[in-house]
Amino acid sequence: MKKKIFLVAGARPNFMKIAPLMRQFKKGKDKFQVLLVHTGQHYDYEMSKIFFKNLHIPDPDIYLQIGSASHALQTAKIMIAFEKVVLKEKPDLIMVVGDVNSTLACSLVAAKLNIKVAHVEAGLRSFDLRMPEEVNRMLTDKLSDYLFVSEESGVKNIKDEGISAKKVHFVGNVMIDTLLYYMNAIEKSTILEEKNLISKKYCVMTLHRPGNVDCKKTLAQIYAILKEVTKSIAIVYPLHPRTKKMIKKHTFLKKFNALKNLSMIAPLGYINFIKLVKESHFVITDSGGIQEETAVLNIPCLTIRENTERPITLTNGTNYLVGRNREQIIKKIKLILSGKAKKSKHLNLWDGMTAKRIVKIIEQTI
Ligand code: UD1
Repeated sequence: MKKKIFLVAGARPNFMKIAPLMRQFKKGKDKFQVLLVHTGQHYDYEMSKIFFKNLHIPDPDIYLQIGSASHALQTAKIMIAFEKVVLKEKPDLIMVVGDVNSTLACSLVAAKLNIKVAHVEAGLRSFDLRMPEEVNRMLTDKLSDYLFVSEESGVKNIKDEGISAKKVHFVGNVMIDTLLYYMNAIEKSTILEEKNLISKKYCVMTLHRPGNVDCKKTLAQIYAILKEVTKSIAIVYPLHPRTKKMIKKHTFLKKFNALKNLSMIAPLGYINFIKLVKESHFVITDSGGIQEETAVLNIPCLTIRENTERPITLTNGTNYLVGRNREQIIKKIKLILSGKAKKSKHLNLWDGMTAKRIVKIIEQTI
């Protein structure tokens, strides 16, 4: 009897994590029947479909069409819709990735129906409960039967929370499987020509955390930072829909548009975005995944946050935590522009084989 597995994805940062898992499960199709569930948490073409196209992910078998809402409503709507399909399909295992609302909602449904949960990217902790993702991570890990960990700090965090070590598997970073797998396609991207950019003559910025973009005061701080940075280098800024909405709401659009060296563009697909990062001088971000991708690409990364759940990117990668501290940011940019930024060191098991390890463990134990 084939084991029926649900692989759940909902938001942009999930798609690069499910792509290698889908490919790997397909190789074992005599053992597994995998159904891809898309909750529809992200739904715009640039936030979802383009990643399916870029990463050759098959169309979802089940699409829940949830869309945007408050945290409680979005989580609840996913749970209600997901429970119905779980009751109908009766999977043997539900696999969730990352830390978005879809991750927690689906693990909660699974646990209540006594279905095994596998969490890919388990154990990461920012220790900052003001981040919705931290709540999602902690609770998902508590409910999981398999905890697939991407960096060694995660193993310790899980142990400290009293979760049984038997459930924990340090397998490496599945998102890096995607980065390495698509490197040739990334090289061929023509995004620099399309945007009239010269390699290393610009930096890339992405900001979308509620803590940075949702209120007027923090947006004003971000504006002040941009004003300063654009004096020394051009910034390319693919705008997340949340950020776009907030910049408009807080009446900053004119000010941002008036910054000569700032180019705000629509969100990019995976291949073009990574090419943009790979050819940049450095990156400014508040994303989790980008801290890891820049570590592998050896591109300096300034993270506009006070903490990171991915400490390996600080010790062995290219990441600097700078908060919204303007002086600190300028200091680090000077360091980077003078060629003295730190370089990446060994990143244990970020080798393109993580999905293979995960599927092997499931095959042997399910
Ligand atoms: C979500 C994740 C966050 C992740 C981010 C990556 C949670 C709690 N947060 O945040 O961890 O880093 O995705 O993008 O799950 N919107 C659109 N089109 C879309 C999706 C969203 O216009 O396709 C707009 C809506 O106005 C929505 C807002 O963006 O209200 C925020 O979307 P939401 O999914 O709630 O959270 P993100 O900020 O995207």
